[in-house]
Order: sequence, then C-alpha cells, then structure tokens
Amino acid sequence: MKYSISIGAFLVLVLFAAHASEARLQVCKPSGKIRGKNPPPGECNPENDSDCCKEGKLYDKYTCSPSVSGRTKAVLTLNSFEKGGDGGGPSECDKKYHSDDTPIVALSTGWYSGGGRCLNNITISANGRSVSAMVVDECDSTMGCDADHDYQPPCANNIVDASKAVWKALGVPEGDWGWLHVTWSSF
Ligand SMILES: *[C@@H]1O[C@H](CO)[C@@H](O)[C@H](O)[C@H]1NC(C)=O
Ligand SMILES: *[C@@H]1O[C@H](CO)[C@@H](O)[C@H](O)[C@H]1NC(C)=O
Repeated sequence: MKYSISIGAFLVLVLFAAHASEARLQVCKPSGKIRGKNPPPGECNPENDSDCCKEGKLYDKYTCSPSVSGRTKAVLTLNSFEKGGDGGGPSECDKKYHSDDTPIVALSTGWYSGGGRCLNNITISANGRSVSAMVVDECDSTMGCDADHDYQPPCANNIVDASKAVWKALGVPEGDWGWLHVTWSSF
C-alpha cells in the first residue's frame, strides 16, 4: 500500500514535469514565409537602418510574440511615425500620423494583440532608465515586402519600434540609435 502511494506520487510528478517542460517549449514559431521582391526604384528608404526586401529571399512571418511578463525582453528599433517617414501609412491605432518628438511605439503583431494595447502606455527600460511610451501602431510580423510596409521585410516578433523621443529619453547617443536590447512592461 505504501509502495503504490509513492509510485502514484512519482507518476504525478513525472506527468507534472513533462507538462511543465512542454509549456516551456511552447515558443512562438513562424507561421510561414514571405518571398521577397526587390523594391521598385525610389521605394524603401534605407535611412535609419531600415532593411529592404531582397528578391527571392525568404522572410519568416509570425502571428505570435513571446509571452508577456512584468519584464518582457524586446529589441528596440527606430521608426518615424510622421508623414513621409519610414513607418509607411498612418498609425494603425488611430489612422493618424504622429510627431516623432512624442514617445510612441509600434509593437510586433503578437504583442499588438489586434489593437488590444492601443493608446495604452508601456514602460520601456534600458541603460538603467525608463520611459513611458504610448502604443499607436503595429509592427506587422505577418506581412511585408509591399508598398504598405515600405518594401521592408515583416517585423520580427519581439520588436518595440520607437520614435526618436523614446531613444532620447533612454539616453542613447544619437549615433547608436537603431537597435537595442530593452525590457518593457504594461504598467
Ligand atoms: C530617420 O529618423 C529620423 C529621426 O527620427 C527622422 O527624422 C527621419 O525622418 C527618419 N527618416 C526616415 C526616412 O524615416
Ligand atoms: C499615456 O500617457 C500620455 C502622456 O503622458 C497621457 O496623455 C495618456 O492619458 C496616457 N494614456 C493612458 C491610457 O493612460
């Protein structure tokens, strides 16, 4: 009797461990690929380290992003939300253009969550500093390499694409703007 209880407990433990490791492995995988086309002449402004699609190159697309915690790791990139900037059309949340002097961001599709974080402020931290920035747009991880996306590849799934005001507030020297490991939280 004593034995069967401990075997039972052991089995529960094994099942629990298997379940936990399965949960840990539930990473966000690509949902497919996009085949790149060269931008038409004059399209895709490579300023600010923007990546332009290349003919025949395959780009991963994602409908998910890594799960959100109190300190979600992300890559901060630079975006212009102004008319004529490299952000493409107006912002997805309010169909407006925004001044790059306000701290605003676009989030990868999974984190954008169908607009669920629109006009909420998130706190972005790096360099021992923090800035509160408003979510106004989606950094589309599901599409790219077309006119709507300035002939740029789909967004990675872990991007906080930020106005220059965010970079300034984090104290990053202007020459280093473009790519930085950060964390963000929704409060
Ligand atoms: C590059 O970034 C700067 C600073 O945000 C901005 O003024 C400029 O318009 C951007 N260029 C493009 C093509 O978006
Ligand atoms: C986000 O921050 C801006 C600027 O501080 C503020 O005007 C706005 O009300 C805030 N939005 C929310 C939803 O708290």
